[in-house]
Order: sequence, then structure tokens, then C-alpha cells
Amino acid sequence: MDKKLDILNSKLAEAQLGGGAARIDAQHKKGKLTARERVHFLLDPDSFEEIGALVMHRCTDFGMADQQYPGDGVVTGYGTVGGRLVYVFAQDFTVFGGSLSETHAEKICKVMDLALKNGAPLIGLNDSGGARIQEGVNSLGGYADIFYRNVQASGVIPQISAIMGPCAGGAVYSPAITDFILMVEHSSYMFVTGPNVVKTVTNEEVSSEELGGASTHASRSGVTHLTASNDIDCIAKIKRLLSYMPQNCSEKAPALPFELEEEYREELTAIIPDNASQPYDMKEVIQGIVDTDSFFEIHEAYADNMVVGFARLAGRSIGIVANQPICLAGVLDVNASKKGARFVRFCDCFNIPLLVLEDVPGFLPGTDQEWNGIITNGAKLLYAFSEATVPRITVITRKAYGGAYDVMNSKHIGADMNFAWPTAEIAVMGAKGASEIIFKKEIESSSDPAAKLLEKEREYADTFANPYRAASRGFVDEVIHPKETRRKLIKAYAMLENKDVSRPRRKHGNVPL
Ligand code: HXC
Repeated sequence: MDKKLDILNSKLAEAQLGGGAARIDAQHKKGKLTARERVHFLLDPDSFEEIGALVMHRCTDFGMADQQYPGDGVVTGYGTVGGRLVYVFAQDFTVFGGSLSETHAEKICKVMDLALKNGAPLIGLNDSGGARIQEGVNSLGGYADIFYRNVQASGVIPQISAIMGPCAGGAVYSPAITDFILMVEHSSYMFVTGPNVVKTVTNEEVSSEELGGASTHASRSGVTHLTASNDIDCIAKIKRLLSYMPQNCSEKAPALPFELEEEYREELTAIIPDNASQPYDMKEVIQGIVDTDSFFEIHEAYADNMVVGFARLAGRSIGIVANQPICLAGVLDVNASKKGARFVRFCDCFNIPLLVLEDVPGFLPGTDQEWNGIITNGAKLLYAFSEATVPRITVITRKAYGGAYDVMNSKHIGADMNFAWPTAEIAVMGAKGASEIIFKKEIESSSDPAAKLLEKEREYADTFANPYRAASRGFVDEVIHPKETRRKLIKAYAMLENKDVSRPRRKHGNVPL
């Protein structure tokens, strides 16, 4: 028996070593942790149980039969984060550059299947040179097996991808299907084709960082939802993200203990400027409403005219979608619509109630927007809200103009409660634009057109630049003092706690992709 135990121990020790001390050293010199270190920092102490540590690849071409590393370049298993079960895989760059072989893919698929069957989140820590070149189509098949499982798991369990090294070629599509992507600044990149191919095909000179680094995907493409300054920061952000989510689509997110107090927030009263065309920071409104330090912004650097993120209200997770008046006056454009729609759909998949804070002058006009599909993309946001069955509340802080009024979680598309501050302006458009159209003749024939325009503008504003017309129709449930917003919301979400909605029978809807 002792001899057999020795063999086991030596094989396990070999698996622990990955590609060897020199390669581990090289990984550290790049400022990166190894796969095992990442798993160690991600999971609760002593909670990790490894699966498949002794798996070996089956490739015999190109001298591969002699190059074997137990585990085959990916550490897989399960453990807990904050006491809750998660499944994890971490690609090991020290073994063939973390490249994906047939067996490497089989290991990932095994934990994906377990995660789906047992209803717990899947976390992928990606650091890979892509398809194992020596294995050809076997590797490509392995990728497709993963992609297929990503789709089957979508909306059933949360899937989080951290990109902590290279992620290139078709490999990008697994993270792309998952719910959230995090990238580590300066040590990770994602692209379908790298700088060399780009140069050959388009003659563009671009670095890996510029083409597909963390800041590029955070601000330009929107591919990544969060960026991190290093591996440890990335792991901390994964843990925080998980804390707002349930384990699967049948559960609710865990709530923190909370005791109701008076809950008035006087500071909310002073945020909206007297001048309606002056901007203010919607994040101040968010901070004034949610539990202290609970707001966790997603997609911060992308489409900053729209703010999305998780927060807690009275200890419970909520998803916030808010127009941001200090960026492009909070207008809805292509990117803001896509950003909002994706977030709304995530929250709805996982039973996270939605709060919309609305101050929107409308959709952004222009050829750029029209030619880039503001019609289809704006429709995504409209569709996402309309199909969402989670508790949905809107607070109109100021402008709710035009089609954007309908789209931003109006009562008409299924919001459960719609509050407005006294500063709300709910109309087809701003008073000036409206007066120029409907009083055109009267203004033109006036002896003083400028004064006439001003007079008509005031008349229109008096009629519509307030929440009372909408409240009289019941489109706004209540006009509230800003300081009582948090209190009203806490009570309203408690009232909606058992919301249960059935939709017409269908295979699935056809969201305007
Ligand atoms: C096999 C690989 C590998 C791969 C890296 N290695 N990528 N082995 N298949 N795809 C090995 C290297 O040979 C090397 O082995 C070790 O990993 C570390 O690689 P280095 O090149 O020394 O590291 P570095 O300089 O940091 O460069 C990392 C890299 C580079 C940028 C990822 O290795 C690279 O360009 N690799 C090829 C990437 C690629 O073209 N992959 C296929 C993409 S197509 P030794 O023994 O020397 O340490 C694809 C299709 C997916 O993935 C389709 C899905 C549908």
C-alpha cells in the first residue's frame, strides 16, 4: 500500500507543478499568478476540490507523446466563494501556453455540466494561447463543445469569464457568450485576429494592447464589463460580482441583514439644478438611494450616458439602469441601448429587481446613429424591459421625453411602480422644439418672433414640463419628494416581493439582435 500511495503522491505533486518551476517563474515575472494561485485566492480557504488533476492529452503527433503534464493545462473543480458553491476552471499558461487540447476541453466541459446540473455559477479564468496547434481539429471540436454548453447554461446559472492573459481567435467566443467578462489591465488581451493578421489584411499597424487590451474593450467595444489592475484585484471583483447574484435562475440573490429606520435622505433634494438644461451627476442620486457603499458599477467606461450596475436596497440586490445627464445629457444612443438591454436581460434571468432612474431627452439624432442602427438597438432596450418579469420600478427625476419615455421602463411596457419627482418633465419633446413646430405660423407672423417663441415655450412648459399630467392619467403612480425616494422604494420592492407573471406560451422570443 505504501508504494501505491507514493505513486499517487508523486503524480499529484507533478500535477501541482504545472509546466515546471522555470515557466512558473516566467509567469510571475509577467506580473501574473499561476492557475493554481488564482484558484487559491478565488475560493474560500480549504474549499477547493480538484477534478481531473491526472488527465493527460492523447496527442501523439509532433513528438507530443513524450510531453505530458498531468492536468493538461487546466485546473478544474469546485469550491465555495463566501460559503456558496461555485465551479471553476483556470487555464495554466505554464503548460503549452494554456492551449486548449481535446482533453483540456473535456475537463472544462465536465465542470460546466456539473455546474448546470447542480445549479451553481461557473467561473472561467482564461489564460491561453488558443487551440493546441499540434491537435488540429480535435482542439476546434473541444472549443465548440464548450461554446455549446455556454449557450445551454445561459440564463440558468451565472457564468463569469476573467481574461487573465491571451484570449485570441475563436477562443473569444466562450467568454463572449457568458454573462460577465473581466479583463486584467496590461496582461490580458482579446481579439479574433491579432496584430499580424490585421497588418496583412488591412495594412493597419496596431499593438495587441490597442487592438484588444482591457481599456480598449472597456471603453470602445464594450466587450469587457469590468477591468482590474492585477490578478488579485480581478479576483476580488469576481467575488463582489457573485455577491449580488443568486446561484441559479430558480433562486433569489442572498440578502444582507437590514433593519428599517426612517430612511429619509435629505441630500437627494438638492441634486437637481434649478435650470433644467444644467446637468447633474445621476450617480449622486444612486448613492443617495441605495445602501451605503453598495453600488457596483458595470461597464463604467462604455456608453457613459447610461449608468448600469448592481446595488443593495435594504440589504437586497437590485439592478440599476439610469440615464446620466452629465454625459451627452443622458441621451439614448446605440451603445447606451445595447448596454442597458444586456444588463436588464441579465437581471431578469436571475430574479434581480430593476430600478430605473430616468432623465432622458430622447434618442440621439444623426446619420451616425441612424446608419449604425439606432432603430434596432433602441428596440433591444425596449424589448428587454418589456419582456422582464422581475419587480420593476422607475423614478423620473427630470426629463422623460419622446420615445425614450416609453422605452425607459414606462408603466405602459410593464413597470410595476412609476414614481416622479416634482422636477419631472414628461412630454413628447422639450418646450422649445415643441413650440417651434406647433406654433410655427403664429411665431412667424408675430411682430416679435423671438418674444413670441419664448411666450409659447413657457406655455408649453407650464402644460407639460411637470409630472402632473402623467400622474392624472395614472402613468405616474405617485409624485414624491426626493428625500422620501429610498423609503418609498424599499416599501414598493417589499410589496412586489412575490410578483409572479406568466407570459404567453412560445419557444422563445425574437429579440432584435
Ligand atoms: C501549442 C502553444 C500554443 C498553442 C503557445 N504555446 N500557444 N502550444 N498550441 N496554441 C506554447 C509555446 O510553444 C511555448 O512553449 C509556450 O506555450 C509559451 O508560449 P510563448 O510563445 O513562449 O509565450 P509568449 O511569448 O508569452 O506568447 C504567448 C502567445 C504565443 C502570444 C499566446 O504563444 C502565441 O502566439 N501562440 C500561438 C497563438 C495562436 O495562434 N493560437 C491559435 C489561435 S487560433 P514552450 O515549450 O516553448 O514553453 C485558435 C482557434 C480557436 O485558437 C478556434 C475556436 C473555434
